[in-house]
Amino acid sequence: MKQTKTKILSPDAHGLREATDILRAGGLVSFPTETVYGLGADARDDVAVAKIYAAKGRPCFNPLIVHLADVSAVSQYVQMNDAAKRLADAFWPGALTLVLPVVPVGTISMLVTAGLGTLAVRVPDHPVATAMLAAFGGPVAAPSANPSGRISPTKAAHVLAGLDGRIDAVVDGGPCGVGVESTIVSCVGAPTLLRAGGISIEALEACLGAPLLRDEDPDAPVSPGQLASHYAPNGLMRLNASYAEPHETWLGFGGVNADLNLSPSGDLTEAAANLFGMLHQLDALGAKYIAVSPIPAHGLGQAINDRLRRAAAPRD
Ligand code: TXA
Ligand code: MG
Repeated sequence: MKQTKTKILSPDAHGLREATDILRAGGLVSFPTETVYGLGADARDDVAVAKIYAAKGRPCFNPLIVHLADVSAVSQYVQMNDAAKRLADAFWPGALTLVLPVVPVGTISMLVTAGLGTLAVRVPDHPVATAMLAAFGGPVAAPSANPSGRISPTKAAHVLAGLDGRIDAVVDGGPCGVGVESTIVSCVGAPTLLRAGGISIEALEACLGAPLLRDEDPDAPVSPGQLASHYAPNGLMRLNASYAEPHETWLGFGGVNADLNLSPSGDLTEAAANLFGMLHQLDALGAKYIAVSPIPAHGLGQAINDRLRRAAAPRD
């Protein structure tokens, strides 16, 4: 990917203004939270979110956590319920992420939700994160600010060691206090632990007055990975298609005359930004048979091909 000069910003008014300007322009800013440094982008901007995956070199589209400045903003993006309210009251701001049904559909980029219909949200407890999020005034999607497969960064220097030249800026707010990622609880059904983290399971269970289900419980909702792999358009997909048969709807890439085109100019970041939206559009068009152009297997092409292979896999 293209090299950029990564700025190191101070956590004062001037630095935070630069950080929010970059976010508004669709750029990537790493910022400190109490758990680990996040790699932030405007969660409503498809291309900005696609850049997160490109910078991290993620080989698949894992859904991302949306960070908000304060608890009152949360209900603009997800549908809260009793268990979620109880956990939010007790642990936000803090190292807890809640997964809930997303509302309203269409605000948050589908690259953040991986097209799942649920959204992970967190209100971090860090003065620099809070100040930046409040000044930005919108939802910021942020995975940990490390290249895919490497350990999470707890200092600005760790962020630079992994991502220098691949992101626009890092706000240096010193070392993170907690040092492990947030605990993730899904409140879509009965509260279920998806990832252990900064808030202890005992504290969560004491607050709820009931044990958390575990991902592997037969009663638990399906885990994010499995859910993601179940998301597919209704039509049957044929991959690596250099042309479409008359009965097929063509999802193209590059300079082809397709019904929908992920990126007429052959740009993988643009293609990633369009992917989930176009899969949904194919359903809206009622496409029963779908031909998909070959996607180059480098950079974001890996994640796009992973998602397309899952969408094309035989179904039960
Ligand atoms: O402490 C943290 O949580 C840090 C800081 C930056 O906030 N963030 C972080 O993000 O660890 P990340 O992307 O490294 O991990 C997010 C996890 C992924 O494992 C993903 O599968 C899960 O959250 N997740 C996100 N959205 C989800 C959803 N809608 N349903 C289930 N799981 C979800
Ligand atoms: Mg991570």
